[in-house]
Amino acid sequence: MLTKVHTGLEPVPGIWWRPAHKAEKVWVAIAFAWCMVLFAMMPLWHYRGGQNPAGVRRRVDPKAFYARTLQFAAQYKVGDDRGVPIVQAPPGSDVYLVGLTFQWYPILQLQQGKEYTLHLSSLDVNHGFSLFPVNVNFQIVPGYDYALRVTPTTSGDFRIICNEFCGIGHHTMVGRVIVVDENGTPVADNAAAKVKSAGEP
Ligand code: CUA
Repeated sequence: MLTKVHTGLEPVPGIWWRPAHKAEKVWVAIAFAWCMVLFAMMPLWHYRGGQNPAGVRRRVDPKAFYARTLQFAAQYKVGDDRGVPIVQAPPGSDVYLVGLTFQWYPILQLQQGKEYTLHLSSLDVNHGFSLFPVNVNFQIVPGYDYALRVTPTTSGDFRIICNEFCGIGHHTMVGRVIVVDENGTPVADNAAAKVKSAGEP
């Protein structure tokens, strides 16, 4: 006996003209109402949530931004960590951080409670700036200079993790931000440092 088999070559008979079941209509209405709630939350949260960065964004030539960062690093270099300069600029100044495959350059040393204008950009592809263990995330796009006004509230030794897949070495793209307290002493013994040392052999 031959059974009729649907191969996909012939269309499945349609039923779309039949009226939808009441339960289906209710669910469509609920889903639509929820979509509207989420849609309204986007502009609302921009003003009420305090999660959106209030910075200046301008176009920049990636090579020019990189050159500016190198110059900045050379000017305020105070140390070195495996070839990456540790840079401490005076409070209130502009600090530069560039993401490139596959590193963050340079290591910024900031002072707790002081405001800085943090310039973020990428030399090549999209990277994701994720400050660990603090929940700060930012998309780094080549060709754009994001100048964020930042005031570190906690001292410590933080890690920057790339959270945007950027290539074969994406998982190795880890940077460092050091925040020294009011006395200027780096606090190495914090959560971030502990997690880092615990993961190392
Ligand atoms: Cu940079 Cu992933």
